[in-house]
Amino acid sequence: MCAPEHFTVAYAINPWMDPTAPVDAELAGKQWERLRETLVGLGHTVHLLAPQPGLPDMVYAANGAFTVDGVAYGSRFAYPQRAAEAAAHRAFYLGGGWRYAEPTSTNEGEGDFAYLPGAHGGLILAGYGFRTAPSAHAEAQEVLGRPVVSLRLIDPRFYHLDTALAALDDGNIAYYPDAFSASSRRVLRQLFPDAVVADEEDARAFGLNLVGDGRHVVLNAEASGLASRLAAAGYSPVPVELSELKKGGGSVKCCVAELRP
Ligand code: ARG
Repeated sequence: MCAPEHFTVAYAINPWMDPTAPVDAELAGKQWERLRETLVGLGHTVHLLAPQPGLPDMVYAANGAFTVDGVAYGSRFAYPQRAAEAAAHRAFYLGGGWRYAEPTSTNEGEGDFAYLPGAHGGLILAGYGFRTAPSAHAEAQEVLGRPVVSLRLIDPRFYHLDTALAALDDGNIAYYPDAFSASSRRVLRQLFPDAVVADEEDARAFGLNLVGDGRHVVLNAEASGLASRLAAAGYSPVPVELSELKKGGGSVKCCVAELRP
């Protein structure tokens, strides 16, 4: 995770960002800290990346890389405003003994890649349409040695895969079908017949931008409908308030880069 010390909405690169709307920086910091404490309280280890001035979106740490089995596939951001973030993530992985694969294709890390270790022996789901280039899906498959399933995103509000789909545990997902093309919806139905299906309200509340650890599902408090659906499916929803970071177009998952050593 990376503290929102320099967080602000200074430019608009997704439909949620409005540079004229006020952001409460202090509240953003408190909400982020609460998220960090929640994850630690659930027994997870949180490593921190040093925030850098001039990189207001650096708080969305999920976009810096995608890791599977000790290999980090690096990011190459779609917009120049965020390009410099990649180097900070790269330094983190190289300093921590990971194998780091330099990307040649545009991709925004865990924003557009999800990993299901228990589905079909280890499956990568990958989104394209707004940020990550389809060629990055093939590159990720070569680098990580796991099958990659390409999914086309069609709604600009859900511009990253992690705004429309989430891994709940090792083998199951939650997703909002209308964020995907008809063919991609069919693929998801075929692969995950038992998925938790979210509606538009859940998705608009950033409910799918969640972190699941197999049992607990940490998600945006505004997504109360999805929280009930998850509870009915046997998960334990853990709601957190992240109203300020939502103004940048992200929530829980965007703030967390999951490490799969
Ligand atoms: N303002 C950031 C952007 O548009 C938000 C990134 C959200 N991150 C995510 N993993 N969906 O790039």
